[in-house]
Amino acid sequence: MDGTTVGTDYQILKLKPYNPSIGAVVSNIDLTRPLTDAELAELKRAFTEYQVLFFRDQQISHEDHARLAEYFGTIGQHVGKKTNSQPSDDPRVRKFYASGEVPRVSGNLWHTDQSCAPVPPMASILYLHTIPDNGGGDTGYASMYAAYDALSDRMKVHLDGLTAVHEGKHVFGDGTPDAVHPVVARHPESGRKLLFVNPGFTVRINDISLEESDALLKYLFEHCLRPEWTTRFIWEPHSIAFWDNRCVWHRAIGDYLPQVRSGFRVQIEGVTPPVMA
Ligand code: SIN
Repeated sequence: MDGTTVGTDYQILKLKPYNPSIGAVVSNIDLTRPLTDAELAELKRAFTEYQVLFFRDQQISHEDHARLAEYFGTIGQHVGKKTNSQPSDDPRVRKFYASGEVPRVSGNLWHTDQSCAPVPPMASILYLHTIPDNGGGDTGYASMYAAYDALSDRMKVHLDGLTAVHEGKHVFGDGTPDAVHPVVARHPESGRKLLFVNPGFTVRINDISLEESDALLKYLFEHCLRPEWTTRFIWEPHSIAFWDNRCVWHRAIGDYLPQVRSGFRVQIEGVTPPVMA
């Protein structure tokens, strides 16, 4: 064995867990060609099981990138009028680029992508071909399943049935939608309960006082970032991170400027709004 854990009953893919609560590196797969039905079935199962999948040494084209996304859903557009990513020569794919000359690090705070939308994106696939060589530019990920599971039974009862307001205009400017989502949601595929509040967009828990809401959100945000269920993905050139936006927080770590970090990102549309658990 080479240290790779072959996940239980995966016949084709090799899955090496990245953290006990979240993430796996997937190998024995080539994303530059169409997948077989058997490969795709295992990939979908791994996505639901591990929440964020990492791939190494996949030198993908825009076509490969879009094909991977379309196995899982419809390619979507960013909900914000003002975003830090830029168009590429393919309308399905956004360019990610930051450097000393363009010092804008997109996603440099913990968040769920565009949870201010009534139906937030289902997932995103980020491919980076150019990585800073000063050791910076990792992406942080946190499991909202594990964060929910670790709450006390009494806190779970307290949160049950609450909703929260998610706003986006402080991030993406005027015209960005707002949404109300359950504080505890149930994942449509795994059936597991998860915390669906995040520091990027959640501003208020409804039906409790403002002071209670502020204190509860502060507590939940700190709890969600406990090191037991957070991890940092260390990029290499031509790595891919594919995260389930319905149960994962993430954060770009903007510690690498003026070096260049660059690649492309595709977003997959959500199908249903987060549902009350
Ligand atoms: C993001 O999608 O929020 C950015 C992630 C990253 O650049 O690492």
